Amino acid sequence: QTTTPRRTVRDIVKGAAPSVWLTAYTTPMAKLLDPHVDALLVGDSLGMVLYGLPSTLAVTLDMMIAHGAAVVRGAAQALVVVDLPFASYQASPEQAFVNAARVMAETGCGAVKLEGGIEMAPTVKFLAERGIPVCGHVGLMPQSVNTAGGFRAQGKDEAQAAKVAADARAIAAAGAFALVIEGTVEPVARAITESLAVPTIGIGASPACDGQVLVSDDLLGLFGDFTPKFVKRYAELGPAVGEAVAAYAEDVRARRFPGPEHCFGVKRG
Ligand code: KIV
Ligand code: NA
Repeated sequence: QTTTPRRTVRDIVKGAAPSVWLTAYTTPMAKLLDPHVDALLVGDSLGMVLYGLPSTLAVTLDMMIAHGAAVVRGAAQALVVVDLPFASYQASPEQAFVNAARVMAETGCGAVKLEGGIEMAPTVKFLAERGIPVCGHVGLMPQSVNTAGGFRAQGKDEAQAAKVAADARAIAAAGAFALVIEGTVEPVARAITESLAVPTIGIGASPACDGQVLVSDDLLGLFGDFTPKFVKRYAELGPAVGEAVAAYAEDVRARRFPGPEHCFGVKRG
């Protein structure tokens, strides 16, 4: 058994090998992923992936705390980062601090993540200066789906590109330890990564970023509703689950399961 100490935000660095992040929402998945990653992100994507919600907007702080604590219990070495959900931090830096502090204290995670650019920079600074490490999230921001008019790639025209870059600069200057860039065209993600001292973690933001993150259920083929262009499928576990369950159903209906070896108090002949 190794006694590797748990990673902290200080281990998420720029320049060396790319930082490897994946989402995790449960203890068993955290256990499976932990040996292979630098950070586990308890993303509010769990609202869509686990709960079948149409967006992340209805995800609550209590949901994030329950899943965050589950992931921390399953993770031995990875830094665990928990998303602050919609409406838990946008009202004021004070609101953000109270809720982020609850997430930190009740889950044991190492950092929180929040979406936003220039308008959230004072909040990032407020938290970071008070002991709460913050990961930023710019570009495509799913909690802004209603003002953005949908989930679409960012930075496609010059005005958009300048906006994403200004957002990234503001969040970095406010003291974020890392910055997720989602759904953003390559030249913009590259320019941000090259110009900022903070490590960038890309999802649909090109290999120019300092690290990568994906939704684990997407890469495993477990979440079938749709697959964004930026996802690479490394396995097709959905069909495997279907086959296993079909075999079980057939066995039960044919009275092949349970067999004597699965029963208590049955003499083997
Ligand atoms: O909620 C999430 O899973 C995320 C990642 C996609 C970055 O925020
Ligand atoms: Na998220």
